[in-house]
Formats: sequence, structure tokens, C-alpha cells
Amino acid sequence: MSKKIGILTSGGDCAGLNAVIRAVVHYADQLGWEVVGIQNGTHGLLYDPPRVKTLTPEQFDGTILRHGGTILGTMNKGNPFAYPMKDGTTKDLSDDIINGIKKLGLDAVIGIGGDGSFAILKKLADRGGFNMVGVPKTIDNDLGCTEVSVGFDTAVMVATEALDRLQPTAASHDRVMILEVMGRDAGHIALNAGIAGGADVILIPEIPYTFDSIAEKIKQVKEDGRNFGLVIVSEAVKDEHGQTLQKEFADGQKRLGGIGDYLGEKIAEVTGSETRVTVLGHIQRGGQPTWSDRVMASSFGVKAVDLIREGKYGRMVAWQNRKVVDVAIEDAIAAYQEVDVNGTLVHTARGLGICLGDNEK
Ligand code: F6P
Repeated sequence: MSKKIGILTSGGDCAGLNAVIRAVVHYADQLGWEVVGIQNGTHGLLYDPPRVKTLTPEQFDGTILRHGGTILGTMNKGNPFAYPMKDGTTKDLSDDIINGIKKLGLDAVIGIGGDGSFAILKKLADRGGFNMVGVPKTIDNDLGCTEVSVGFDTAVMVATEALDRLQPTAASHDRVMILEVMGRDAGHIALNAGIAGGADVILIPEIPYTFDSIAEKIKQVKEDGRNFGLVIVSEAVKDEHGQTLQKEFADGQKRLGGIGDYLGEKIAEVTGSETRVTVLGHIQRGGQPTWSDRVMASSFGVKAVDLIREGKYGRMVAWQNRKVVDVAIEDAIAAYQEVDVNGTLVHTARGLGICLGDNEK
């Protein structure tokens, strides 16, 4: 039976989103279904008529698979249940969004998002009685029930490459380089890139650090005859007083940031080393997706269409044990996935002699 499905990207963008959209469009076309792309997440549904693009396989001409970003646009602000109005108040616009979906006559919606977006989409779907399935994406890799989400691999690759580029300049100038990476409250990017990129110190929010331990490691590196050091730090690592560092933007939005500079000064103080700080920022989200993100995105897109075919709604596609499976969206949100401090990667880092900021070996 023919269907009309909607697809949207929600939350922060990442590499691989276009590969998900492409897979959905190609597979749906084989089934004779129509696909509409909703623009800027649920925001596109607030307009009358809703802002959508009809998506056909011809539009995926062999270039879009390779591109970062999302051809649909996305938003990581403006919760429709408490939408910020110009006068500073908030308004519940959830009914407007649900009406937008009804106007489009959609049989189902595929939402590509992270935990925050899924919580909103699930609530909207329950309230509006529409069918939805989710595809996990987040460079932070903090969604539960899936080993990996779209965008994470590319972000780790970019962070690893940054360490590769920092190492020779660090060695040329006898410096300790500090690289601040994203990841929100989870340290997955820092831990993976730190191991892959040969960091001496990896600081993640899950493991409290002391300056003594960092100083000890840098001292040992120097005693071993090496003239440079590499430190990678996750943006949510706190300062020595337990405060999370944030930046406030002109529009009042706050985002994590500043721990790299903070550590740079402190590490110079306690080690006597010359330090320089690089904040990698949104470079981790843009650019070409890695092969692995493209394959995962494609598999997730096909599986999302399968779920609609089978009438399995309220589900998120997930990667588990080399397979694509599906899980309840609420389970994925509830099982928030921070770094397991007793897990394989922490053990690996310790086995390599990397300092994780504490005194454990
Ligand atoms: O959740 C993805 C993420 O890139 C985080 O790692 C980061 O803290 C945040 O989004 C940045 O948000 P924005 O794009 O609004 O600056």
C-alpha cells in the first residue's frame, strides 16, 4: 500500500545526516512511497502551509551522500512545548506542529535526532496520535541502547586528526598542546580520539582530575626524554572548584566552553611548560562523513523504512552486535550512555600509560 512519509533532522547537525535521508528516499521510492522533507526540524511545521520539500531519488545525484550538514536544515533550540516568543514569554505550540503533520497527511514521520529531540518528538507523537520512528544521531554518542550514533565516528576522526596536526608543531616548539573537544556531558570523543591520537593526558567529565596527577605525567614525559605533550579535554570537564565553564552568546544562549583555556594556564603554572590551546568546536560536526558514518546512516535509513512497513512505531533504530535492530525510544532516552569508567576504553587508556587525571593506573 502506498504511503506518504515525512522526514526531519532535529538538534545539532553532524556528518552523515544526508546519507540517512538519501537511504530513506531511495528505499521508499522502491516501495512506491512519497517522501517529504520537513525543513528545520519541527519548526517547518509551524508555517501554513508547512515548509517541506518533496524528496525524490533524482535529487540524490551522487554528491549529497558525501556532504556534511543536512539538506533539510535543523534546530537545536525552541522546544515546541515552551516555545520562546519575542516578548520573552514562552508558548505551547505543540498543537500547531501536530496540525502541520495532519495537514501534510503523513502516515509516519522519521525523526533523525538525539535524546533531547526524541523526547520532544515522542511527546508530540503521543499527544497528536501520529506514527514516528527515530534514527539516532549525535557526535556526543550519549544515546542509550545503541553502540554508536550517526556523526560520532566523523567527530572522533576530526579530533584524532587535530592531535596528528598538533603533535609535530608541539615537538618543534617544546610545547604542551591542549585540545578542547565537544561531547556535552559525555567524554566519548575525548577518550576515543585521545587513545587514537596518542594523547598523554585525557580529561573527561566522568573522571575527576587533580593538577598533581597531570603535572606528574608531564614531568615523567620530560624525564623520558620527550620534549612535547598532548592533552585532550572534553568540554564538560569542570574547573578545580567543581564549576562547569560556559560561554554566553549575544542572544542569551549558553554553551559549554572555556575549559581548554583554563587548563592551558594552570598546566603552564604547575609544569613550567609552554602551553597552547586549540578549541576544535564545530569543525567536529561539519565536513565529509567517514565511510563508517555513511554505512551506518544508510543502514539506519533503510531500517527506519522497514519499521514503517511493519507498522512498528515509537521505535528507534540502533546498532548492536554488528546488526541494526530497533528499541523503544523511551528506553534509548532513559539509558543515557556516558563513558563507562570500568569499561574497555578506560582500561585501555590506563594500560597505555595515559593519565586520566586521577591517580589510578
Ligand atoms: O550535542 C552536540 C553538540 O555539538 C555538543 O557536543 C555541543 O556542546 C553543542 O552541540 C554545541 O551546540 P551549538 O551548535 O548550539 O553551539
